[in-house]
Amino acid sequence: MIGLESPDDAAIWRLSDEQAIVVTTDFFTPVVDTPYEYGAIAAANSLSDVYAMGGRPFLALNIAALPDNLPPEVSSEILRGGAEKAREAGVVIAGGHTVKDKEPKYGLVAIGFVHPQKIISKSGLKPGDILVLTKPLGAGVTTTALKQEKAEAAHVTEAIEWMSRLNKSASELAVEFGVRGGTDITGFGFLGHAAEMMEASDVALHIDFSKVPFLSGARSYSERGIFPGGAFDNKGHFENLVEFSEDLNEPAQMLLFDPQTSGGLLFGVAAENLDAFMNRAAEVGQPVWVIGNVQPGRRIKVR
Ligand code: CO
Ligand code: CO
Repeated sequence: MIGLESPDDAAIWRLSDEQAIVVTTDFFTPVVDTPYEYGAIAAANSLSDVYAMGGRPFLALNIAALPDNLPPEVSSEILRGGAEKAREAGVVIAGGHTVKDKEPKYGLVAIGFVHPQKIISKSGLKPGDILVLTKPLGAGVTTTALKQEKAEAAHVTEAIEWMSRLNKSASELAVEFGVRGGTDITGFGFLGHAAEMMEASDVALHIDFSKVPFLSGARSYSERGIFPGGAFDNKGHFENLVEFSEDLNEPAQMLLFDPQTSGGLLFGVAAENLDAFMNRAAEVGQPVWVIGNVQPGRRIKVR
């Protein structure tokens, strides 16, 4: 149903009229100093692509590349972080494969189920939808500050909490409210993934910058120019699709290109469902921010 020709988060294969299988993989180098948290974040990120498509992951395999000289207690902490995150998601890690490599890499192959009529994709936004985001932005600048030894400990803790958080309840909410257009915010940053949805759905997105949530340290790190290289790549790739209002300075604009690790979901809720959606989100303890809306056209406007 969904494969190489679409920009979506996972591949989907129809098994029957009621069931399709969702398959995805993701792995990356450490984003934090602590092996357990690195494993948990990598696992949450891998499962996120199943959640982003409205699926329920149930089975996974580890993919790991580990240096020869890495102490065994470090490798086992990485895998334990991943295993406990998978367990929290109700996912069984049934095996995997490890190779030797100079720099550690870890992630999962994740498999889930989705109802063929309830798939969430990048092409499903409709004019009139209200755009909601389920995690604050700023993971890239915060982890870059950490690498440069300029980060405040409290900011790192906050970033780790959000990056480790599963997109499970956010996805369940989206499915419950019949959401069809959505994705998760990862390496291309907020505007990169928004641009993919804008093009795939053939719509315009209007974003209210003052409503976009950021991690506590993100603004100050961006004012100091502490961006990962990927933020500049994203700006280069996507800025021609975006119109910023003049009062948004360069650091503010750059934050929307900041690559995220294990970011939140961005999806469109039908306007008539918004009140019920917000109430239900509060009930299940899922943070959501209304950050804009979908209109006819083909552009992203940020004001
Ligand atoms: Co994704
Ligand atoms: Co991915």
